[in-house]
Amino acid sequence: MFSKVNSMGAYGLETFMVSVECDITVGKQNFNIVGLPDNAVNEAKLRVRSAVKNCGYSYPNQAITVNLAPADMRKEGALYDLPMLISLLIATRQLENTFDDAAFIGELSLSGEVRAVSGVLPMVIMARNAGITRVFLPADNIAEASVVRDMEFYPVPDVTTLLAYFRGANIIEPITSEIIIYDNEPKYPDFSDVKGQQAAKRALEVAAAGGHNILLIGPPGSGKSMLAKRLPSILPDMTFEESLETTMIYSVAGELPTNVSLIRNRPFRTPHHSISSAGLSGGGSIPKPGELSLAHNGVLFLDEFPEFGRHITEALRQPIEDGVITIARVAGTLTYPCSVMLVCAMNPCPCGFLGHPTKKCTCSDRQRENYKSRVSGPLLDRLDIHIEVPATEYEKLSDTSIPESSKEVRERVNKARQIQLERLKGTGITSNAKMTPAQTKELCKLTEKAEAKFKLAFERLGLSGRAYDKILRLSRTIADLDGADMIDVKHISEALQYRSLDRQ
Ligand SMILES: Nc1ncnc2c1ncn2[C@@H]1O[C@H](COP(=O)(O)OP(=O)(O)OP(=O)(O)O)[C@@H](O)[C@H]1O
Ligand SMILES: [Mg+2]
Repeated sequence: MFSKVNSMGAYGLETFMVSVECDITVGKQNFNIVGLPDNAVNEAKLRVRSAVKNCGYSYPNQAITVNLAPADMRKEGALYDLPMLISLLIATRQLENTFDDAAFIGELSLSGEVRAVSGVLPMVIMARNAGITRVFLPADNIAEASVVRDMEFYPVPDVTTLLAYFRGANIIEPITSEIIIYDNEPKYPDFSDVKGQQAAKRALEVAAAGGHNILLIGPPGSGKSMLAKRLPSILPDMTFEESLETTMIYSVAGELPTNVSLIRNRPFRTPHHSISSAGLSGGGSIPKPGELSLAHNGVLFLDEFPEFGRHITEALRQPIEDGVITIARVAGTLTYPCSVMLVCAMNPCPCGFLGHPTKKCTCSDRQRENYKSRVSGPLLDRLDIHIEVPATEYEKLSDTSIPESSKEVRERVNKARQIQLERLKGTGITSNAKMTPAQTKELCKLTEKAEAKFKLAFERLGLSGRAYDKILRLSRTIADLDGADMIDVKHISEALQYRSLDRQ
């Protein structure tokens, strides 16, 4: 007999309905799966067979063919175990098919437990649009799915419980979207731990407010890593859309904690400099999101920036500019969003003391050149803010007064971001840093005096066209922090200060 149940599939963030068809024919006992399955899907045969037997059902002594349609989309992972089992039980008349409006996903253990799968959130959103109203899915994926409205989600702990429910022997309480669980507010280290460094703190505040990329340059021990690690504590709140986008990426990557429906805190990713290109951009036969995409709508922090190989920094160029990364594989190309704020920290030279007020730099010219050449020029050009982080003086370090806390800074950042959201409504972007050249031109209006100041500085410093737009966007953010409509002289002056590499 023939049967068909609904399931879903994902290729990166691209999702589609899958129908799991099962046909039992007289013949030698065997089990074939067709429809572009990968290895994990193929192994489903063994899991399904064991689960059927171990849950007290009979496994047919005949030829079983399962087709995963549409046949031209690759099927990956173990999520088809559960729909295959249901389809098999229907085809062998051990279960009645009342599932036209339902979909199934879940990996099976040999004993019939149902295990969590990745990519649930984007798949469920797609299924709702395709007219599915009920989804039977692993109990551990419930939090993630419950974000989606107007659907019923049945948490399935194991096959025995599910089949007993279909016989009317017990109840599985469906969950609807009323229950949304957020990730908890993590405890970030606080800005009040950092003494002095007013200029660097202010630069980080501006960067956070407008989502600007930033480079911190300074001698060893001056507090670069310390400052950068405190950045998450002042990042602005996420909008609901941003949360949803980031959550989908974590869902596809299989990195969403089981009890979290929505990621509400901006990601802060700190890959080590030994990371591979695949780790950064995304990898696997059907590529999963890499660090770049996992930082989407948040921060990618590259500490000890020159230690990252050139191939890594070069690979960052395009995605940082475009906000999306395209990965090409034999299986096809995949695109993930990666709208990130890039934060880099480095020493000015190999020994770290170039330009230090008291210590002497011991590097040769050649060493310095070498060091510089390790940092990709074009990538540096994409950083909006370059700020020097000098060693803190004794008086400041020994000062016992407590500096401003992250909470106060964050309030200002949130206010400035709110102004941007209002101004950028309907444009699809949420921060000044992401404005296109046309938007920059339209939305960054200078006062007459500011215009004159900018012209003078531009000619004196010999700035590039890219720097021109960057300074305008930066000064827009500084004016937003100030609550000013027009960009004034003090805003443009401060923005010009954040271009220390242009001045050298
Ligand atoms: N301004 C400061 N206020 C308080 N502590 C500080 C300050 N600057 C540095 N420190 C102390 O020095 C330690 C080293 O700082 P950090 O690791 O941030 O230096 P770094 O600039 O990243 O150096 P490197 O270039 O070697 O990586 C910090 O953990 C902190 O204890
Ligand atoms: Mg450091």
